[in-house]
Parts: sequence; structure tokens; C-alpha cells
Amino acid sequence: MTIRTNILVTGATSGLGREIALQLAARGESVIASGRRENRLAQLKAQENIQTLKLDLTVSDEITRVCASIPPLSGIILNAGITVSDPFISGDIETDSALIQTNVVANLHLIRGLLPKLKTPSGRIFIIASLGGLTPVPYQSVYAGTKAFMINFALSLREELKHENIDVSVFAPGGIRTEMTDIPSMKSLENQLAPAADIAKAAIAAYDKMPAMSVPGFQNKIVAAFSKILPRSFMASQAERIYRKARND
Ligand SMILES: NC(=O)c1ccc[n+]([C@@H]2O[C@H](COP(=O)([O-])OP(=O)(O)OC[C@H]3O[C@@H](n4cnc5c(N)ncnc54)[C@H](OP(=O)(O)O)[C@@H]3O)[C@@H](O)[C@H]2O)c1
Repeated sequence: MTIRTNILVTGATSGLGREIALQLAARGESVIASGRRENRLAQLKAQENIQTLKLDLTVSDEITRVCASIPPLSGIILNAGITVSDPFISGDIETDSALIQTNVVANLHLIRGLLPKLKTPSGRIFIIASLGGLTPVPYQSVYAGTKAFMINFALSLREELKHENIDVSVFAPGGIRTEMTDIPSMKSLENQLAPAADIAKAAIAAYDKMPAMSVPGFQNKIVAAFSKILPRSFMASQAERIYRKARND
């Protein structure tokens, strides 16, 4: 294993991002862990090999400032993300926009701004998408749209950036037990959620190899395989039944 310097991990204050940051740091990588919550950042800063960066991905100026001031990086792990688990009809455009800003626009902004800071050859851009980007997710429709965007974007960008000696890889996990899924509508599906530490381990294994796309876990791999064979409309109607039932349980 090669120890790399300065890997930026966004969304490192909880869930998957926190586990990725801690596991990378534990094996000796120097990590720049970002998020908004200062108490969580302070806890991370107390760990060996972790520096922290307060960054709100909904504030465009902050992203620009960080891109200009951050030291050279060996890799970027774009993990921060949010969802809204409600019928689309009960939402509003402000919430939709914040979701798209956090899950999509901020990532594009960071990639554009940080490309000059990425060491070449072998600079790495690792994007955390979701199985929900491969299959429709009724009641998280906007979220599923953002993740589908990031998967197609990542696979396209990978082919462009190989000519710049920069590697791009996208990771599409299924359900994980984190703050994101600690919500009433997921309660009855709780036992199907994977521990964040296990998915972080799989993410780091993928980060080491940088395949075009990876899906951790046997069951998720099956869903991903079905998503290539079955009509999306069928997958959507099956998912709608499961999530409607979970919401009513
Ligand atoms: N949980 C799942 O079932 C699941 C499944 C597939 C994919 N994923 C993906 O995995 C990634 C991590 O999700 P998670 O489950 O670990 O979620 P989580 O525990 O809710 O963590 C989300 C992270 O994103 C950060 N974040 C949110 N809004 C932000 C903003 N405006 N600016 C900066 N940071 C922000 C949060 O930090 P602050 O609040 O401190 O800013 C937090 O560190 C996401 O991209 C998610 O879509 C999750």
C-alpha cells in the first residue's frame, strides 16, 4: 500500500465520510476532513493524521475560497450528501435546490476548483453516489436524480481525465446505517442497512483500485445487475411498493 498525502474527504463529520476519514487516517494517510458541524470537526482534529476544514457546500463563495487556499492533494473523496425522504408533492423548490446544490453542484464546483491542486500522475477523484442512482427511488425522487447524475457524470469525466493522468471512480452503495437513514420512513427497513464501518472499508478498497464503478455487497450487486436487465419502470414500481409500505409501517 502506498501512503498518500492530503486526501480531502467531504461530509466527514458523520456516517460514511467519518468512517472513511478515520480508516484512512488509521493506516497513515493524511486526511483533510470537511463538514459544517464544528464540534464534530474538533473531535476529528484530535485524531492523528487528520486536519479539518469547515466548509458549507451550499455557500458557493466558501467553495471557491477553499479551492484557492487548500494545499496540493493526492485525492478527493466527494462523499457529502443529503436526502429528502418525502413525497415530491409535499416538498418545495428551495429544498430541492439545496439538495441538488449539495449533491451535484458543489461536487462539480469542487472538482473544477481542485483540479489544479490534484497531483499528477495518479491524482484521484472518488465520488460517492448510491445504488439509488442506478435504480429509481420513489419518495426520494430528487435524491435519486442527483445520484444518477453523479454516476453518468463520473463515468464520462473518467474518460476525459485519463488523458490528464487523473483517475475518476464512482462508488454506489445501498442502504447504510447513518444519520441519513435514521428517519421514521426507514425504521422498518433498518435491519437491511449495512454498518458504515463496513461500507467505508469497501470504499477504501475501491479507492485503492479506482475501478470505473463499484457497488459494495452481494445483494446490492444483484440489484445493480438487475438494473441493467429489467425495465426501469418495473424497478420503479417495485421500489415504490417497498418504500410506500415502509412509510406506512
Ligand atoms: N446512508 C445511506 O443509506 C446511503 C446509501 C447510499 C449512498 N449514500 C451516500 O453516502 C454519502 C454519505 O451519506 P451518510 O449516509 O454518511 O450521511 P450522513 O451521516 O447524513 O452524513 C452526511 C455528511 O454530509 C455533510 N453535509 C451535509 N450537508 C452539507 C453541507 N451543506 N455542507 C457540507 N457538508 C454537508 C454532513 O456534515 P455537516 O452536517 O457537519 O455539514 C455529514 O458529514 C452521501 O453522499 C449519501 O448520499 C448513503
